[in-house]
Amino acid sequence: MRLGSIVVFVALCSLTAYYIYEPIPEEIEERWKLMLTNSFFRTLSHLADLSELVGLKDYMDVMYAVTLIERIVPVSDERVQVTEERFDGVEAVVYQPKLRGGDADLRRAVIYLHGGGWCLGSSRMSPYDLLARQIVTELNAVVLSVEYRLAPAHHFPVPYEDVYRVVKHFLQKWVLAQYSVDPERVAVSGDSAGGNLAAAVSQQLQNEPAQQIKLKAQALIYPVLQALDLNTPSYQQNQDMPILPRTLMVRFWSEYFTRDKALFRAMMANTHNSPESSRLFKFINWSALLPEAYQKDYNYSAPSVAQGIGGEAAGMDGPFRSLADPRASPLLVPDADLFPLPKAYVLTCEYDVLRDDGIMYVTRLRAAGVQVTHEHYDTGFHGAVMFTVWPTDFLIARRMTDNYIKWLRENL
Ligand SMILES: *[C@@H]1O[C@H](CO)[C@@H](O)[C@H](O)[C@H]1NC(C)=O
Ligand SMILES: *[C@@H]1O[C@H](CO)[C@@H](O)[C@H](O)[C@H]1NC(C)=O
Repeated sequence: MRLGSIVVFVALCSLTAYYIYEPIPEEIEERWKLMLTNSFFRTLSHLADLSELVGLKDYMDVMYAVTLIERIVPVSDERVQVTEERFDGVEAVVYQPKLRGGDADLRRAVIYLHGGGWCLGSSRMSPYDLLARQIVTELNAVVLSVEYRLAPAHHFPVPYEDVYRVVKHFLQKWVLAQYSVDPERVAVSGDSAGGNLAAAVSQQLQNEPAQQIKLKAQALIYPVLQALDLNTPSYQQNQDMPILPRTLMVRFWSEYFTRDKALFRAMMANTHNSPESSRLFKFINWSALLPEAYQKDYNYSAPSVAQGIGGEAAGMDGPFRSLADPRASPLLVPDADLFPLPKAYVLTCEYDVLRDDGIMYVTRLRAAGVQVTHEHYDTGFHGAVMFTVWPTDFLIARRMTDNYIKWLRENL
């Protein structure tokens, strides 16, 4: 009897260990903590798949638990005044410093866009709340953390347009004056899908001749920047990496546009490009845009093109066309549209499917004459900046946050 229980116990332990264990590269710090953290995400993802399979709830509705677990009510503290406001109808949490360096002093502002693949996440999650407070106290700046609406309830371009409306509304003299913000010192920033929205809104605003007040800087943390090639070396190398495996990124992309699973399947196979998209391949040609060290041993081949969208994807012209819209894929604009952009900070991680999106943008921005600071983390993984809260706090998250804020201090 006792032997029996021991056998069962050992079997359970090894099953658990087998489940948690993943071949995570040796260089990554705190590997076991990352494996444990990721086993939570993997379990949730399996449950979400199962739930969708049996018709209980859609995959993303289950994954939304990630947001709910860390959701808090942002409140003022002794140093930061927190209010929930609307800008042109769109919700944002506003963080302002309480200590004023004399009333005549104007402050800097950061418009922050959270990550979560356009489907998950909230400005009211504790890691974003902590980040906003840190920016406020270290820079004496105002932070607007935008609660843009999410897919799949609100497909592209709704999340983008919400962000555009907030930025456009905030960048008016009388609005900035209400918050004592210097019109020459406003930045837009975000991580992952938030970096995508930040890059897209920077492009759209800087190219509007009627826009009087411009952004001073854009700070992009492991941004998503293009939907045409989902087989870049970083997508191939990191397809099974923790936090953001390739399947999840492809899910996010497809759910941003449609609930129809045909797009997801086409994107998984990298066969989602229409003949019209092929003229844009030069803007994401990693063989030309990635420094050799990042190309590794991968051999370039351009994404394949479907001759007319037929088969099960017929009738999905809309989503297929949106993939190439620069408001969704900011890497797809011509050089002339990059030239007027504000100076940029781009953070990339080695172990991230999105690494090459960020690096290609660095190459293209620099070629267009934009001042760029590129910080690459050799041991970094996607989503790391979010992991600042016990028990999933990682040393690398602290370093990334400190370096990011240092850049803002010196450049905004
Ligand atoms: C990509 O770049 C390589 C090398 O610069 C070039 O040979 C190739 O024709 C390019 N392909 C496309 C689709 O732009
Ligand atoms: C790339 O091509 C070379 C030469 O044809 C080959 O030796 C190498 O294995 C290829 N690399 C990959 C990752 O397929």
